[in-house]
Amino acid sequence: MTRKIAVVGATGNVGQEMLNILAERKFPADEVVALASRNSAGKKISFGNKTLIVQALEDFDFTGTKIALFSPGGEISAIHAPRAAKAGCVVIDNTSHFRMEKDIPLIVPEVNPQAIAEYKKRFIIANPNCSTIQMVVALKPLHDLAKIKRIVVSTYQAVSGGGKEAMDELYESTKKIYENQNLTPKKFSRRIAFNVIPQIDIFMEDGVTKEEWKMKVETKKILDPNIEVEATCVRVPVFNAHSEAINVEFENPISVEEAKRVLSKSDGILLIDNPAEMQFVTPIEASAKDPVFVSRVRKDTSIKNGLSLWVVADNLKKGAALNAVQIAEILVKDHGL
Ligand SMILES: NC(=O)c1ccc[n+]([C@@H]2O[C@H](COP(=O)([O-])OP(=O)(O)OC[C@H]3O[C@@H](n4cnc5c(N)ncnc54)[C@H](OP(=O)(O)O)[C@@H]3O)[C@@H](O)[C@H]2O)c1
Repeated sequence: MTRKIAVVGATGNVGQEMLNILAERKFPADEVVALASRNSAGKKISFGNKTLIVQALEDFDFTGTKIALFSPGGEISAIHAPRAAKAGCVVIDNTSHFRMEKDIPLIVPEVNPQAIAEYKKRFIIANPNCSTIQMVVALKPLHDLAKIKRIVVSTYQAVSGGGKEAMDELYESTKKIYENQNLTPKKFSRRIAFNVIPQIDIFMEDGVTKEEWKMKVETKKILDPNIEVEATCVRVPVFNAHSEAINVEFENPISVEEAKRVLSKSDGILLIDNPAEMQFVTPIEASAKDPVFVSRVRKDTSIKNGLSLWVVADNLKKGAALNAVQIAEILVKDHGL
């Protein structure tokens, strides 16, 4: 039986990373197909030491394709993911479109791998938001140890989270400033060069942005419905890798030493935390790396059982493509796909 895999949105930031990771991890595929919009049909892209010719998603028949990794944007996934599922292909979707639907599992392999089995209901699995993924990976071992009640998080999100055009806008607007000119923002609501923007995605009725809302509801769905989350999501002029300053309140006492001990032996986490030696992680060090990096674990002295920490991860890798490929690996290993 041949195992054919499709990457949808293969010319985009996330799709390119998916192809790199499938090749890097030697994913057991007999055939990999690259799909994107009609504009990209016929383009050549690399996959390991091979070259793939991009095909148009609209014309592609998913019959015989085992797994499809989707990242073409929410509106496109809304149409084509159910079409692929209907043809018997299991979709792992990176967009926000299906994440909060009841019968669609929302998966982070280090946190809730058992929920993958629910893929059988709709043949669609959702990959969470990049900011949620790195936060729940870092907090799961601490939740198991002392039960989290409340999380307050501020994010410092890289422009790569907004796609290729957002990265170009940071580059162009930085260049223009040195040329004494101004660039009218298109992807962002304000100038992104030498600035920070406390708005990612649309504002909702209560003044919360959709990105902030996603962090709340997705954390509840993945980690524990009883955890309260308060988030402020901020776009910063960093090309790649998101950072988060997190304050956590626990039900039970937890020491900094215990927290560091469990973090240092948990899957998917690399603890780099030695202030005396100036050891902590920044987005530049986390970019192009797989783990979720944790630094600056310390007591939050403003509450009874509290910790503060700094969490950084590559949003295109663990925040998107790597998480999706890990899910696909579990489908192959444990579910016979
Ligand atoms: N970047 C992140 O950190 C991140 C993390 C998690 C989830 N996501 C989600 O993943 C999705 C893609 O993000 P990205 O950063 O990769 O964006 P991107 O760099 O702008 O890439 C978009 C991809 O979608 C394809 N596409 C656009 N319209 C299409 C259509 N009508 N039919 C088929 N393919 C189409 C594009 O193909 P063409 O090149 O042919 O236009 C391109 O391959 C978004 O929904 C985003 O929210 C992103």
